[in-house]
Amino acid sequence: MGSVHGIDHPLIQHKVAMLRDVNTQTKDFRELVSEIAMLMCYEVTRNLPLKEVEVETPLTKCKAKMLAGKDVCFVPILRAGLGMVDGVLRLMPFAKVGHIGLYRDPETLQPVEYYCKLPKDVADRMVIVLDPMLATGGSASSAITFIKRRGAESIKLMSLIAAPEGIERVQQDHPDVDIYCAAIDEKLNEHAYIVPGLGDAGDRLFGTK
Ligand code: PRP
Ligand code: URA
Repeated sequence: MGSVHGIDHPLIQHKVAMLRDVNTQTKDFRELVSEIAMLMCYEVTRNLPLKEVEVETPLTKCKAKMLAGKDVCFVPILRAGLGMVDGVLRLMPFAKVGHIGLYRDPETLQPVEYYCKLPKDVADRMVIVLDPMLATGGSASSAITFIKRRGAESIKLMSLIAAPEGIERVQQDHPDVDIYCAAIDEKLNEHAYIVPGLGDAGDRLFGTK
């Protein structure tokens, strides 16, 4: 079973509280999503393997450590996952980015796919799926299925706010995937929105409501 990592750093909790606030407007909301994603990325990549290298400082040669092993590919789930991309790329500018377009049908609540473009070498990379909201888990689970079909074996999911139902769904469908979130909320409401949550992440990011 994949593990669930709640990232409760005070800076992240502070920014999540601001994100939840109904009075936080689009510009600030966008900046907060990006900043939280960057801070979370620091934790998500904590166990990346290192290799020893020799570097020459202005004074002498010394041994130092640099990243080794699998390169990273971020895969935002459109739309709202896009808000997390520039934050994680600020930490890892050399990573590749794939995109998966999914929306949740408001009637059936089932994810509908409309776009999928992943790097050719995705199978050789550690994939970090980005979506601020893990509600029923349908969207994240489908996205992970697409990525696995392309051969990727090392996949992590990074969400800002998760519902217990979404965590359970991803753990059931993809027991090999670790989940990272900044908050685990109480429940879903009758429209499968996370409560207390932050509302519709895509609409708040892009000002569409
Ligand atoms: C939101 C969110 C997730 C999904 C979560 O996207 O960004 O992708 O809902 O819900 P789930 O866990 O129940 O699948 P939405 O479908 O609203 O599409 P949008 O980003 O285009 O607004
Ligand atoms: N998608 C959102 O944007 N918010 C929720 O609370 C649930 C799904």
